[in-house]
Order: sequence, then C-alpha cells, then structure tokens
Amino acid sequence: MFYKNLKDFPTDFLWGASTSAYQVEGAWNEDGKGMSIQDTHTPPEGITDFKIASDHYHHMEEDVALMAELGLKAYRFSISWARILPKGRGAVNEAGIQFYDRLLDELHKYSIEPIVTMYHFDLPLALYENGGWENRETIDAFEEYARILFERFGSKVNYWLTINEQNVMINHPAAMNPGKVPNKKELYQQCHNMFVASAKATLLLRKMCPNAKIGPAPNIIAVYPEKCNPSDALAADMWEAIRCWLYYDIAVYGRYTPSVWSYLTEKGYEPEIFDGDMDLIAKAKPDFLGLNYYATATVSAPKNDGHDCQPRNGDQQVMVGEEGLYRAAQNPHLQQTKYGWLIDPIGLRVTLERVYNRYHMPILITENGLGTHDVLTEDGKVHDDYRIDYLSDHFKQAQLAITDGVDLIGYCPWAFIDLVSTHQGYNKRYGFVYVDRTEDDLKEMKRIKKDSFDWYKKLIEENAKNL
Ligand code: BG6
Repeated sequence: MFYKNLKDFPTDFLWGASTSAYQVEGAWNEDGKGMSIQDTHTPPEGITDFKIASDHYHHMEEDVALMAELGLKAYRFSISWARILPKGRGAVNEAGIQFYDRLLDELHKYSIEPIVTMYHFDLPLALYENGGWENRETIDAFEEYARILFERFGSKVNYWLTINEQNVMINHPAAMNPGKVPNKKELYQQCHNMFVASAKATLLLRKMCPNAKIGPAPNIIAVYPEKCNPSDALAADMWEAIRCWLYYDIAVYGRYTPSVWSYLTEKGYEPEIFDGDMDLIAKAKPDFLGLNYYATATVSAPKNDGHDCQPRNGDQQVMVGEEGLYRAAQNPHLQQTKYGWLIDPIGLRVTLERVYNRYHMPILITENGLGTHDVLTEDGKVHDDYRIDYLSDHFKQAQLAITDGVDLIGYCPWAFIDLVSTHQGYNKRYGFVYVDRTEDDLKEMKRIKKDSFDWYKKLIEENAKNL
C-alpha cells in the first residue's frame, strides 16, 4: 500500500541501541565472574575470542556518556549470568551485581531506559557441564537467577527480555554447544526447557515487579516461497512455523504450533513435557514481543534427494533446509552484505505485518543492523554512509509498518558500539561508535564516533521527521 501521509513515530518511541554482555564487556575472568560457554570458544586463526571484546566493563561510564550524547531513549544490553552467579546458581557475586547497578544508575542519570536481556547465548559453563538446557535443573537455575535479577535490579528496570534468539540456538546449535552438537531430539528438549524457564521467569516478574514488562526476543524473519507453485508456498509455511511461529505461539498462545507439533512427533523429536509445564506456559503471557531482524529467507519445496539440508557454516542467518520439508533457495532480488547476509528493508515491513496481524501485541525491534568492515580514515573518522543507508531504508519501512497499523514501540539497532561478532570476530563491525582495536592488537580501545552516530543523533532529536 502507498500512503499519501505517513504516521509519525510515536512521541514516546524507544529509539535505542543494543549490545550483549559477552560480545562487549570483556573482563571475562575479573571480579569473581565465572566462566560461560563463550569463554571456552576457540575462534579460527586470526579471529579474536570474546575475552577482552570492547572492554566495556572498564569503559562503562565513558560508553554511557556517549549513549547520552547520541540521545538514546533506550539501551538494550544483557546481563552476564556467570557474572552474577559464577556457577550458574548458588553463591552470588556481589562485584557483578555492583557492575550492573552502576550501569543502571548511569543510564538513569541520563534518562536512558534500560532494556535488559536476561540471557544472551552465554550459559554459565558450570550449568553446561551439568547437562545444560537438556537438564531440567537448568530451569530451576534460571528461575533462581531471575529472582536475583528482579530482587536486585527490579526497581531500576521496566523492560525485561527473557532469552535472546532461542530459535537461533535451536536451529544453529554449534556455537552454543562447545562439546558435542546435540541431535534434534535433544535440541527440542532444550527448547522446551527454555520455554518452561521463560514462563517461570515471566510469572515471577508478575509477582515481584508487577509494573515491569517482559517479552521474548527471538530472531523473526519473513520467508518467501521461491516460486509461486503451491509446494514452494507450503514449504515456506512450514519453515516459518518451525523457525519462527513456534517461539511466539508458545509465548502468546501458550501452545505448540499444531503443524510444528505434528512435525516433531512424526520425526520423533518431540520433547518430554512434564505435568504442569503447559499450564505454566499458558499463564505466562508476555507484554510485548521483542524481535531481532536482519534478513529474510527464501525456500523451495524439498527435492528429497538427500541434499535438502545443505548444511553451511554456523552463521545464524545462513538458511538451512530440512530433509523432506524445505530447501534453502536463492533470492535474486536482494543485495548482500560483504558477509553474505541479505539486505531486505521491505522484508522488515512484511515481517512486522505478519507478526502484528498474528499476535496483535506491541513489538519492539531488539536488533537490526549492518555488519561490515569499517575503515578509520586519516582524518580520524569513520565514514559509514553505507550503514546510514541501511538503517534509513529499514527505518522507512518501520514507519510504513506503523502507518499500516503495527504497534511498534521501539527500535534498537545492533549495535551501540563495535563488538565481537558471534562468528566473525572484530572486523565485522556494527556500532555507531568505532572501537580502535583490531583482531589481535587491542591498542587503547579508543572510542570514535562514526558518521552514523551523528546521523542517528539527529534522527532521534527529530523523532525521524525527516527520514
Ligand atoms: C544476532 C545475535 O543474531 O545477530 C547477536 O543476537 C549477533 O548476538 C548478531 O551479534 C549479529 O550476528 P553476527 O554473527 O554478525 O555477530
């Protein structure tokens, strides 16, 4: 639909930016922090690990001052579970509590709304070694952790996100399982246990902080059938149900998506569901839907020739097929980033429409951005006009979605500052703020505002009036 007049972004729109603990903090073994599975990560030759990252742990005040200068209304970050509970449960690390307390105080000083992810890919190693998410004890550990977060930070946080990209952890499990990669049956047990854990945390929040809001943050993207033949359309529907709807259907409707449950039982992947699990899940309705969006997917019908799966590298945006169900297809209409991620601003509008029409719930974009190599030029600047183009194209589509009637409450691009990519190290940068380090030379970690910083600052000041 083309409009003569677009609706404005709401005046209280949460213009934000995101990060996650293990990708930005560094200080991996300082002040009593325990190890997370990410601390065991051995990257390929020439690529950094997560141990120092952007050293935000030691630059926190400086970084928040930059957020204030940028004019952020909201900052989405994650708390490192192992910094709070070094063994995943049990003794609390007070130094870890103090770090996040100081961070929250700094944010409040500048009236920046904290949006806190409770768990972003960094399961405490001790829990992993005890069976990780396959073990139901991890559900109890998550509830204990949630209780501590709500007790200690509840008065300072209005927006909570339970689990970042649960669907990516299930569909691209290699990075989340430093040992043996689980099979699908094991993965769907992990998945179910995470559903129960999120539900328990949600219900606990209702009791402990009744005014706060909470939601999930999966990676949700629209899918296109490769051609208009009905089998491709059916394959796309199935992909969308397995890869996306399952995660919101459980949260919003409290039930497994019927076609996904049929798939799980047919393949023998169905999880063990304990008495009371589904009741808990049904009671724990979220307040809003977090949504990470980078690119759309395209699929065709399976060929059942043993090659539907087409496994590629562990990159979470790379489409994977599934034998007998769907097969990854190319989309010739879209450009790609240097790292092979498709660029599809209209796909964001399509995604927002589909989600809103299905759930009628407020949506918060918790991630979206361009990861690429940036160059610090001789004038000491980073001229990232390509990032400005990328974000501006996506913001325009978000405004169109709002005009279509979608209740979009905020937009947190990935990322506030350069940080370590999940798979591709430090050269793949996303931030509005450049960090002067390379894969192997930490230099002084100087913070440098990119051109996109000035652009986003103006956009926030004007509430995107001149987009
Ligand atoms: C999201 C994750 O999937 O994508 C982030 O939540 C991640 O943790 C982001 O950094 C970008 O992916 P990558 O692999 O380029 O870092």
